[in-house]
Amino acid sequence: MTATDESELDTGARSPGLSYQDLLDADTHPVPDVLRLESAKYFGSDDVPIERYTSREWHRREVDQMWSKVWQFACRDEHIPEPGDYIIYEIAELSFLVVRQEDGTIKAFPNACLHRGRQLKEYDGHCSELRCPFHGFAWELDGNLQDVPAAWDFPHVDQRPDDFTLPECSVDTWAGFVFINPDPDAAPLAEHLGDLMEHFEVWNLENRFVEGHVSRVINANWKIAQEAFCEAYHVNATHPQILTYLGDINSQVDVFENCARVITPGGTPSPLLGDVDLTETEMARAMLDVRVDHPTPVPIEEGQTARAVLSQMARERWRPLAGDMVDQMSDSEMMDSLDYTAFPNFHPWGAFNRIVYRFRPNGDDHRSAIMECFLLSPFSGERPPPAKETKLAADEAWTTAPELGMLAKVFEQDVFNMAKVQKGLEATRKPGATFSNYQESKIRWLHTLLGEWVNDDVPVSVGTGAKARTS
Ligand code: FES
Ligand SMILES: [Fe+2]
Repeated sequence: MTATDESELDTGARSPGLSYQDLLDADTHPVPDVLRLESAKYFGSDDVPIERYTSREWHRREVDQMWSKVWQFACRDEHIPEPGDYIIYEIAELSFLVVRQEDGTIKAFPNACLHRGRQLKEYDGHCSELRCPFHGFAWELDGNLQDVPAAWDFPHVDQRPDDFTLPECSVDTWAGFVFINPDPDAAPLAEHLGDLMEHFEVWNLENRFVEGHVSRVINANWKIAQEAFCEAYHVNATHPQILTYLGDINSQVDVFENCARVITPGGTPSPLLGDVDLTETEMARAMLDVRVDHPTPVPIEEGQTARAVLSQMARERWRPLAGDMVDQMSDSEMMDSLDYTAFPNFHPWGAFNRIVYRFRPNGDDHRSAIMECFLLSPFSGERPPPAKETKLAADEAWTTAPELGMLAKVFEQDVFNMAKVQKGLEATRKPGATFSNYQESKIRWLHTLLGEWVNDDVPVSVGTGAKARTS
C-alpha cells in the first residue's frame, strides 16, 4: 500500500450532511489555520493481513524491527522532576530506566545489571546511584560504573571499562513528553514528529499537568485496541447513545507527512439519524447528560445553536485555569475531538480535550495489550504533581476510575469489542481485515508505516516469553 493524494480518491465519497469545514465556517470565533488544513490520502483498498494481529512471529518482528528502533513516548517531564528521579518504561519484554541527571538532562538505559543481568530497578522512584540489589554493583546516574564490591576479584572488569558503562538509548523531549528510542544512533525526534510539532504550537501541551492517568489490560493485540480509537465509524453501533450530538461520519480524516488526525465534530447530530428532527435544546440536553425530569441548565434561545452555547460554557469552565486565552479559542477547539496520532502508538488530542492515549503490547504477549489514558489539564500557579497511575486489570471496569468521568462509560463500550475482535480474527477464514478508504484511512496509514518498519523476510528472534501484567 502506498499513499496517493486525494485526486485518486473518489472525492465524492464523503458522508452526507455538514462537513467539518462547513462547521468551521459557522464558528462564532476565529478558527486556527491548522484546523483549516485538509489532507485526505488514499492508501489503496487492499486488506491488511490478519497475521499482524494473530501471529507470534509478526509480534517478534515488531519487537526486533520496530520497538527496538522507534521513538516512543516514555513519560512526562514532571514524572521525573529532580536529579535521581527515575521511571521504568517497558515495551514488550524490553525494560528501560529513564533517569533525570544532575544537570537536568535525561538519560535512558536498558534496565539490566552488567554483572549477571538482574533488573536494576523494579519500581519507579528516586536514587543517588543505580545499585543492583543482587551483588551490589553500582553506577552513577549517568551510567558510569561507580562501585564493584570485592573489586580485587574483578580485574577483568577494570580492563573493559566500556563494557561496564550502562549503554544509552536516545532520549529527547517535546511539549513536556519524554521520548526514548532504544537505538543510540536514532535520527532526531523532531524528524519523527515533524508536522505534529507545528500543529500543536497553538495548543502548547507543555503547559499542562497530568491530572489523571489510568491504564487497563486489554485481552487483544495492541493494534486492535489502538485502532478502536482511530476512527469514528464505530460510533453508530458501539456508542449509539452519543449519535444525537456527534457528527461521527462527518469526521475529517487527514494524513500529513509525520502524523494523522481524525477530527470528529461535536454539538451536531449524526447524519445516520436521518430524518430524526432534533431541536438544539434536545441536542444540548443529550450532550450534558441531563436526566429526563431535570431542567436544561443553559437555555438555548431562538437562533442559537447548541454547538455555540455549549462552546461558551466550555470557555467559562476553562477560564479560571487557562485565563482569557479561552476567548481566542474557536467553538471547534471547545467541542470537537481533535485526535492526532504519531506512529506507532502516541495519540495526543488538540485543544482542551485533555486526552493522550498510549497503546502497548503487554509484556511479550501478542494477544494482550495495555491501554492508557492520560488527562493533561491546564493549571494556574505552581504545576500540581502528576496523578498516580490507576492500574486496572482486564476484568476491572473503566468506571472504577472516577478520574475518567464520562469517558469511562464510552471506553467500557470500546473495550467490550476488543477481546471479541481478537477471537474473531483467530477464527476467521478471511486472510485480511478490510478497512474503508476514507473514514478508516488513519488505520491504513498506520499499517502502511508498520509495513515499512517490519520486513517479513527477516528471521525473528525468539523472545524471552516474559510474563504479561495481570493487574
Ligand atoms: S547481578 Fe547485579 S550485581 Fe550481580
Ligand atoms: Fe469508541
